[in-house]
Amino acid sequence: MSQDTLKRSAAAAALDYIESRLTRQSVVGIGTGSTANFFIDGLARIRHKFDAAVASSEASAQRLAGYGIPVLDLNAAPSLCVYVDGADEVDPERCLTKGGGGALTREKIVAASSEEFVCIVDESKLVERLGRFPLPVEVVPMARGLAARALLRLGGSPEWRQGFTTDNGNIILDVHGLHINDPLTLEAEINNIVGVVCNGLFAANRADRVLIAGPGGVRRM
Ligand code: 5RP
Repeated sequence: MSQDTLKRSAAAAALDYIESRLTRQSVVGIGTGSTANFFIDGLARIRHKFDAAVASSEASAQRLAGYGIPVLDLNAAPSLCVYVDGADEVDPERCLTKGGGGALTREKIVAASSEEFVCIVDESKLVERLGRFPLPVEVVPMARGLAARALLRLGGSPEWRQGFTTDNGNIILDVHGLHINDPLTLEAEINNIVGVVCNGLFAANRADRVLIAGPGGVRRM
């Protein structure tokens, strides 16, 4: 079974889960990436059951708009009933690494604004401990060197994601080799580095529910 088939199954399970909770007034928070794209494609089929969406990236906003789904600015949205997004890694405590697509800051903002965060993954994303996937850190461009030196002191090896600019006009440092024993503490420590906008650890705002697709079906964490 291909990874895309599994991602599509996880997205379908999220649609099943949220569908009965939607009303004509509901605003849905939408993530970024290939799994989130499958979710958007499915959401288009139940377009009549909710009001609008808030997107975590320009790419997702464009995909939603392509289906005629109204996309609201977060500040204009009354409340978000749910946020649905993929992840790069998921640990047994539902802490995540995100930001492979570089949208981590807006993803964290929309997730934090939503009543519930439903994470959808194929089972290759499950890990016992976060850190195998390099941790994306969004940094104000002029602080690149300053932030990189601070990340080195935390035990990581930062690598500048060359040629990439976030939707917020910033750069990404992908940090390799971190030993993430305490995601909550490390998330706060990295956020405390001057020039860091946000990092891809989702521990303070971890997923409320993880839907994991494997060859035997979709299970819930
Ligand atoms: C984007 C993300 C994505 O959710 C993450 O990279 C997973 O992507 P995909 O669903 O394509 O495997 O955090 O910033």
